[in-house]
Amino acid sequence: MGGYLTKPSSDVGGVLTKDILVQNFKDGMYKNVIVMCGAGISTSAGIPDFRSPSAGLYFKLRKYNLPYPEAVFEGSYFKQNPLPFYSLCRELYPEKLTPTTTHKFFTLLRNKNLLRRVYTQNIDALEFLAGLTKDEVIEAHGSFQRSYCTSRNCGKEYDLQWLKTEIFTPEKNDGVPKCDDCQSVVRPDIVLFGEQLPSRFHNSLSADFAACDLLIVVGTSLAVSPFNTLVGRTKPGVPRVYINKTQPGKVEGIVGWMLSLSANVDFSRNEDLFLQGYCDEIVTELCTKADWKEELENIEVIRQGIWEYLQCLLRQEHGVINREVLAAEPVIREFVSPAPES
Ligand code: OAD
Ligand code: ZN
Repeated sequence: MGGYLTKPSSDVGGVLTKDILVQNFKDGMYKNVIVMCGAGISTSAGIPDFRSPSAGLYFKLRKYNLPYPEAVFEGSYFKQNPLPFYSLCRELYPEKLTPTTTHKFFTLLRNKNLLRRVYTQNIDALEFLAGLTKDEVIEAHGSFQRSYCTSRNCGKEYDLQWLKTEIFTPEKNDGVPKCDDCQSVVRPDIVLFGEQLPSRFHNSLSADFAACDLLIVVGTSLAVSPFNTLVGRTKPGVPRVYINKTQPGKVEGIVGWMLSLSANVDFSRNEDLFLQGYCDEIVTELCTKADWKEELENIEVIRQGIWEYLQCLLRQEHGVINREVLAAEPVIREFVSPAPES
């Protein structure tokens, strides 16, 4: 992959650099930006990614004696033994989550009417805490915000607050949350390996990628299918910007070896730009060059503590939670505060 980017299809002939990308942003040349993101956008919020050596989640899993690290996120393994999954949740559950500068950048794109959709592999819901709405985000691997009883005859649904309480009282439930009604295992509504992605993911792809005039891929190793195949869905000539600490599909160690057998990432078009480094720094640089830095900094975020509380409170009433609903609640406004400088 080259360290350069060609220009959008409407500007055939010149080489597109980071500066021209910024200029195109300012000139309104992109109106349907698709963002694809992964765990790397949340590491600065304190959530480890999966595959970074020594800091990644799979490295921390060695003590659970799994047959192989990814078993902890496999649907079939979870059915046999949900304990490692929940032990890991307990260990990693952050006290408080604040969206990162990169999450705010997505909201800035939305505010400027440039955003078509964010496709996220993350289950931390930080895109919403930074102000995006349900319609604007596709949670390709599900979300922790909902959970449900695994008994087909029951299927009772639970919210995050319930799950969190259960996760942190392992002495009550032998380390695995159980349904209040039927005592079957309860699991979060996330997509484990071997399971189907949500239908909304599949149903949105065609129209989204037909309209896409800029693809930004950020904070993901692009090691996991089918998510990584989306990078091949842009129309010819549509620029693709990859913002990441490491190269796509490059994962070290045994996990990397296993994954590279299935990785199918083609990122070698002329229109590709690889901006290597920390995503918060890179998006800040792009925004500074575009004179958007102040707007980026002023994007308000919600912290998770109050968000969880509100979700429980408001879901019953409104069905869908969004910033408009929140802003209408005077009690809440005081909790909506800008994120600290990262
Ligand atoms: P990975 O851990 O595979 O990749 C995260 C990528 O982000 C790595 O390439 C890091 O180098 C990079 N990175 C980390 N911190 C960064 C930063 N501050 N700035 C820029 N880049 C950074 O995570 P994902 O690609 O999200 O699936 O993993 C995809 C899926 O694999 C997950 O959704 C999960 C996992 O197993 C399921 O659970 C089904
Ligand atoms: Zn049940």
